Amino acid sequence: MMRATAQAHPNIALIKYWGNRDQVLRLPSNPSLSMNMAGLITTTTVEFDPGLQHDVLILGGREVSGQGAERVSRFLDHVRAKTSEVVRTVGSPETSEISHLFAHVDSRNNFPSGAGLASSASGFAALALAASAAAGLRLNEAELSRLARLGSGSACRSVPGGYVEWAMGEDDRSSYAHSIAPADHWDLRDVVALIDVEHKAVGSTEGHAVAATSPLQAARVATATDRLAQARSAILNRDFPALADVVELDSLMMHAVMITSSPVLMYWQPATIAVMHAVRQWRLNGLAACTTIDAGPNVHVICTADAAPEVALRLRVVPGVRQVVTTGVGGPAHLISHP
Ligand code: PMV
Repeated sequence: MMRATAQAHPNIALIKYWGNRDQVLRLPSNPSLSMNMAGLITTTTVEFDPGLQHDVLILGGREVSGQGAERVSRFLDHVRAKTSEVVRTVGSPETSEISHLFAHVDSRNNFPSGAGLASSASGFAALALAASAAAGLRLNEAELSRLARLGSGSACRSVPGGYVEWAMGEDDRSSYAHSIAPADHWDLRDVVALIDVEHKAVGSTEGHAVAATSPLQAARVATATDRLAQARSAILNRDFPALADVVELDSLMMHAVMITSSPVLMYWQPATIAVMHAVRQWRLNGLAACTTIDAGPNVHVICTADAAPEVALRLRVVPGVRQVVTTGVGGPAHLISHP
């Protein structure tokens, strides 16, 4: 009781989430679709401790203060608030104490944080599960996904397993993600080309806030549901050529919004564009691979399992590519120990 450990994978969006209808509740402007990234794992332990005077956050073995710690504390406030709701409604003795307690949070990634590998998605998914279990809350998958969404929108997609859709919903209750196919439905790979960043990019929370300043955002949002339907059916039919076209188009539409926002968000580096050109050419020559890019310079090359070794080999020699990481399709967030 009061302590639990959970694990979650980051996810890569195949149909992107960009812009919120409600910035505080992180209710998205459009639905999105992703796959979890097997092999990349965030492991988080939460312990509510009567001896603490404030929340403590340890990331990768080091205590963190400032904005990162405040964001986690604000997130834990949601868990504490849920705990007191349960106490009020069912008078649960299990959870009665926790609404007043601070927590010790220890989180580590088995991959480099801050390299643009979506650690906020796996981080808040693992935190939602570990904190709610430590607090004695027994949340179902949809409730957990909603909770994770409050920490980082895309984190709601790291709660269910495999291929995951976040139907945007209308309000806090209806905005959560669900799995459309398990991880073993289709053995795709995400071969990530990590590219050097000279300047710290604008984070996605700030990015969502300026999405509506782009005149292209309305057109992107208006057509997102159609692209999502195409991507969903390509996944269900394991149709790689159909998936490749819509995944590249959707990523380019998001970046079209980013580079026409005010302020301008230009995440691409020269090597980002070099990889995009290379992969398009490889696909024309018969390699089953396509690109998608998040709010950073790295390029995620989505490909079939048999194409992955060749894709990784070729990416390693593209100038400006610093490292190549291959991941498969991952399962859901899960507890590895709890009371
Ligand atoms: O969850 P956030 O607020 O970090 O936003 C994620 C935004 C993108 O990664 C660019 C797209 C997505 O759908 O994951």
